Amino acid sequence: MSSIQFSVKGSEVMRVLVLYDTVSESKMTKQVAESITETLKENGIDVDSFYVKDIDAAKVKEYGCLIAGAPTMAFRATVGIMDFLNALGESEFAGIKAATFDTQIKAAITGNAAKGIEKKLEKLGFTIFKEPLVVYVERKDKNLWQFKAGQVEKTKAWAQELAKKLSE
Ligand SMILES: Cc1cc2nc3c(=O)[nH]c(=O)nc-3n(C[C@H](O)[C@H](O)[C@H](O)COP(=O)(O)O)c2cc1C
Repeated sequence: MSSIQFSVKGSEVMRVLVLYDTVSESKMTKQVAESITETLKENGIDVDSFYVKDIDAAKVKEYGCLIAGAPTMAFRATVGIMDFLNALGESEFAGIKAATFDTQIKAAITGNAAKGIEKKLEKLGFTIFKEPLVVYVERKDKNLWQFKAGQVEKTKAWAQELAKKLSE
């Protein structure tokens, strides 16, 4: 008696990289990255998540989609994420999807790390396929931060939409 093995190996499955920087003790942006990663996994998406200092820039090319985020610090994306992105070779990323996220305070003039990262990714040739996710935080104590009301839910909803777009 013979058994036939069915394999899904023949079909390309898109791998997603969630890349983040995080600076404060509260690790707010890391928490956002974890929430996005978890939601993508729940939707059956093949996803890896890395702190920007724990992954080599050469690895980015192995993924079909990059979701990159950082805290907004001094009105812009952190030096950590921008140094990483600046180390990527230009014109190697045509056809790779990307979307961005950040954490920031809610005020009249704050800067927007997600927009800055998006601009850089566009320049590198990535295809932006979803609007940035901005997650608002507030000071809890001297050096500690917490999410403003509704931001955890907003993150989940954004990640759900992302999963849907990736499955289209
Ligand atoms: C030194 C410092 C500078 C900051 N500058 C800004 C800023 O320019 N705009 C803003 O919206 N938030 C600013 N923030 C708030 C951070 O974006 C916020 O604390 C963020 O969630 C920290 O993310 P992390 O916990 O992942 O490091 C600043 C925070 C610190 C500590």
